[in-house]
Amino acid sequence: MAKTPFGGKISNRSVAGKQRVKTAKRRTAQSTRWLERQLNDPYVQKAQAEGYRSRAAFKLTELNDKFHFLDGRKAVVDLGVAPGGWAQVVRRLRPKAAVVGIDLLPVDPIEGVTLFEMDFMADDAPDLLTDALGSAPDLILSDMAANTVGHKQTDHLRTMGLVEAAADFAIQTLMPGGHFVSKCFAGGTDGELLKLLKSNFTVVKHAKPPASRKGSVEWYVVAMGRK
Ligand SMILES: C[S@@+](CC[C@H](N)C(=O)[O-])C[C@H]1O[C@@H](n2cnc3c(N)ncnc32)[C@H](O)[C@@H]1O
Repeated sequence: MAKTPFGGKISNRSVAGKQRVKTAKRRTAQSTRWLERQLNDPYVQKAQAEGYRSRAAFKLTELNDKFHFLDGRKAVVDLGVAPGGWAQVVRRLRPKAAVVGIDLLPVDPIEGVTLFEMDFMADDAPDLLTDALGSAPDLILSDMAANTVGHKQTDHLRTMGLVEAAADFAIQTLMPGGHFVSKCFAGGTDGELLKLLKSNFTVVKHAKPPASRKGSVEWYVVAMGRK
């Protein structure tokens, strides 16, 4: 039996190929469900096999396969970079691009990526990012998500606050022709955001890549060609 991050043990008994997790004294029902989902998630296994730090790497890969926003990019900002899956994808597909990432959480070093452990909402964060990049960005990625509290409307507003700040940053700093790709949460305020992006970018699309879990309210906006 293997040890789990929650201090319990994983039973390898499977039902029709699906790994089941025994409940353990110190594990809540929620963490048992999380663990079961991780163990049975093909993207988690694929991420481990391909050396990616997160299954989120495949969301970016799938979005890029569809929209090709990484083509020709030379200066990339990754907002909400931890643990680093998206930055790894950028490095693999655009090895010569300058890449700068920021997160509230510490991130293990990624070769060729300058990392800031700080709040993107801090007043000095936008300037630090563009100074570190050494030029105006031609691609801004945001996978930032606020910690959820379980109240749908509150969670939506908190994450959309981050998305709006990222969109403002993109509109102000992207070089002409630059692209902005961001996670959003469905509900209420996303129409306003699309309106703002449509007036500042040539093409605005939204998509839910296959790697984004079906039950989740997240979707992604892809805004290409800063006017
Ligand atoms: C879904 S994770 C990003 C996963 C990442 N794209 C990857 O591929 O590994 C969202 C991240 O947003 C970060 N975040 C949330 N609010 C933030 C803020 N105000 N400033 C910087 N990062 C923030 C969280 O700490 C979290 O690590």
